[in-house]
Amino acid sequence: MTAIARKQRSRAAVQDAATPLLAWYDRERRDLPWRYGSGQLADPYRVWLSEIMLQQTTVKAVIPYFERFLARWPAVSALAAAHEDEVLEVWAGLGYYSRARNLHACARIIAGRPGAAFPRTEAELLELPGIGPYTAAAIASIAFGQLASPVDGNIERVVARLFAVQTEMPAAKAELRVLAATLTPARRPGDFAQAMMDLGATVCTPKRPSCLMCPLMQLCRANALGIPDELPRRALKAARPVRYGLAFLALREDGRVLLRRRPESGLLARMIEVPSTGWADDEPDLASALQSAPIKADWWQVPGVIVHTFTHFRLELTVMRAVVPIDSQLTFWAGQDRCLWVARRDLKTQALPSVMRKIIAHALKEN
Ligand code: ADE
Repeated sequence: MTAIARKQRSRAAVQDAATPLLAWYDRERRDLPWRYGSGQLADPYRVWLSEIMLQQTTVKAVIPYFERFLARWPAVSALAAAHEDEVLEVWAGLGYYSRARNLHACARIIAGRPGAAFPRTEAELLELPGIGPYTAAAIASIAFGQLASPVDGNIERVVARLFAVQTEMPAAKAELRVLAATLTPARRPGDFAQAMMDLGATVCTPKRPSCLMCPLMQLCRANALGIPDELPRRALKAARPVRYGLAFLALREDGRVLLRRRPESGLLARMIEVPSTGWADDEPDLASALQSAPIKADWWQVPGVIVHTFTHFRLELTVMRAVVPIDSQLTFWAGQDRCLWVARRDLKTQALPSVMRKIIAHALKEN
C-alpha cells in the first residue's frame, strides 16, 4: 500500500469518531447553564451569550456572569433595551470589553428583526457584530441543528491528535478546520461540537491527556504513535514584552477616589481607569513619572507592583497613593473633563477592568 493510501485509510477510520463520541457525550457531558438535554436544540440567546463570554475565558469564570446576565436580561430584547454602561458594568471583570460593546450592538440588531429572532445560518450570523466564524458555526449548530463545525483551541487540539497532524500551529489551522468539518455528522452536529469541546477540556487536555478514558482512543493516530502530548506542534513563542507605568490613586478626604474615563479608542477604550502615566517599554524613573501625577500631592509609593497580562504584553505597574484635600485641583494634563470622584462604597458597581480593580485593591489594602 502506498503512503497516500495508508493515510487515506487511517483518515477513513477516524471518520467514525461521531458515534462513540456522541455516546460518550450522552453519559459524561458537563452540565452547563446554557445547555439543553442531549439531542435537544438550545435557546439561541443562551448559546450566543455563552459563546461570546467563553471567547478567551474559562467555563468556570463565565458561569456566574452568564447567570447574572440571564437574571437581569432574560431575553435578547431586554438586553437590547439596556444602556451600554449597564452592560459594561455587569461585564466588568470578564475582560476584552469590545466583546461587551459588540454584544450590546448585536442585541439591538436582533431585537429589531421580526420576532426578535436570531438568524439561523452561518452566513447571516457572520454579518452580526462580534460574531466570527467560530461563533457563527457554534450558534448555527448548537441552537439550530445546522451542519456547521465550530473550531476553537480545544477542538483544534483534539483534531490534531486524532489525525496526527504534524504541521505547526498556527499554519495548521486551515487543515484542522477542514478535518473537523469532515468529522461532523449531519445528525446532532451541535452535540458533536459540544462533545468535542468537552473532550478537549476534560480528557484530551493540553498536558498529560487521559487517553485511557477517551472514547476515541482506538481511532486516535497520535495515540497509536505515542505522541498525543506533543500535538499540536507549535513554533517556539516569542516572550511577551513587558511594559511599565505608574498609577496614581488619589483618595480625597471625603472618602472619594479619583478615576478617569479612558480615550475613545485603543486598549480598554472608554473604560474607567485609575489615572496613570503612559505604559512604556522602560521602567519608570520615579522623579520624572511623578511629574505626570493628576494632582500635586505628597505621593507615597505602595510597596510591591501590580502585574497584569494582556494579550500582547505584560504590564507592571508601580502604585502611588496620596490623601488629598476636598478642594484639590487637578493638573491640566489630568484630562479634567474625563475625571470623576467616586465614593469608595460605589467602586463595586463601576465598570472597572480587572487591572484597575487590582490597582485599587493594592493601593487601599491597609485601609
Ligand atoms: N467553550 C466554548 N463554547 C463552549 C460550550 N458551548 N460548551 C463548553 N465549552 C465551551
